[in-house]
Amino acid sequence: MSTMSTNFVINASNLTLSYSDEDIIKDASFSVKKGEFVFITGPSGSGKSTLLKSFYGQLKPKSGTVVVGGLDMSDITEGKLQELRTHLGIIFQDYKLINEWTVKKNAVLPLMIAGYSVDVQNTQAERLLKHVRLSEYKDRYPLELSGGEQQRVGVARALAKNPFLILADEPTGNLDEYSSNVIWELMENACQQLEATVLVVTHKIPSMFSHRYRHFIIEHKGVYEVH
Ligand SMILES: Nc1ncnc2c1ncn2[C@@H]1O[C@H](COP(=O)(O)OP(=O)(O)O)[C@@H](O)[C@H]1O
Ligand SMILES: [Mg+2]
Repeated sequence: MSTMSTNFVINASNLTLSYSDEDIIKDASFSVKKGEFVFITGPSGSGKSTLLKSFYGQLKPKSGTVVVGGLDMSDITEGKLQELRTHLGIIFQDYKLINEWTVKKNAVLPLMIAGYSVDVQNTQAERLLKHVRLSEYKDRYPLELSGGEQQRVGVARALAKNPFLILADEPTGNLDEYSSNVIWELMENACQQLEATVLVVTHKIPSMFSHRYRHFIIEHKGVYEVH
């Protein structure tokens, strides 16, 4: 984003997150630079999704700070947050597609919201669906696709506005190995070719990726880097 004044896309300092009295993440300090690919793992219920929520402003820090794309999430205005979100690509385990809409319409949803013309939407739909290899399914509905294909629509939608940061929460959690590998390939491509910074929460780091990228683990409320 234009407001980014450092090399850091995410900078957390003594970040503490909670929903009530009990802290979920406590005093976490870490940073992620532009163009990095980071895996986040940790036991179920350890706070992986909670941590991601703090990056897209769904949960404000209880104390400490987290700065995303140069914006301090503690005191960000609603307007700035909406703008930031248009520059983020978020991918969920359960895809979160609109089942009443076609594949094509789901993929260009962010462009519709931003008010792009139908012409631009059509051109971009073609580009995005080709990228995730779903061109021939553009007029289908999500429930007429396999899980892996639905998640590829989710990836297309996340990429629609060329995000500087992609946040994926167990994107392959419901997928078989073959479909997972297609998603992993798209995630790596987003980082390497599209130059996005990519953070992925996952239960299992795919073997072809182990040791190639940074790895944060959430344990006992802390966020630690695994070397
Ligand atoms: N909206 C919420 N309100 C209250 N507690 C929540 C909420 N979401 C998650 N939690 C709790 O926060 C903890 C961490 O949850 P979560 O971040 O979803 O874990 P993970 O993604 O690592 O499985 C869990 O104990 C969970 O019950
Ligand atoms: Mg989770």
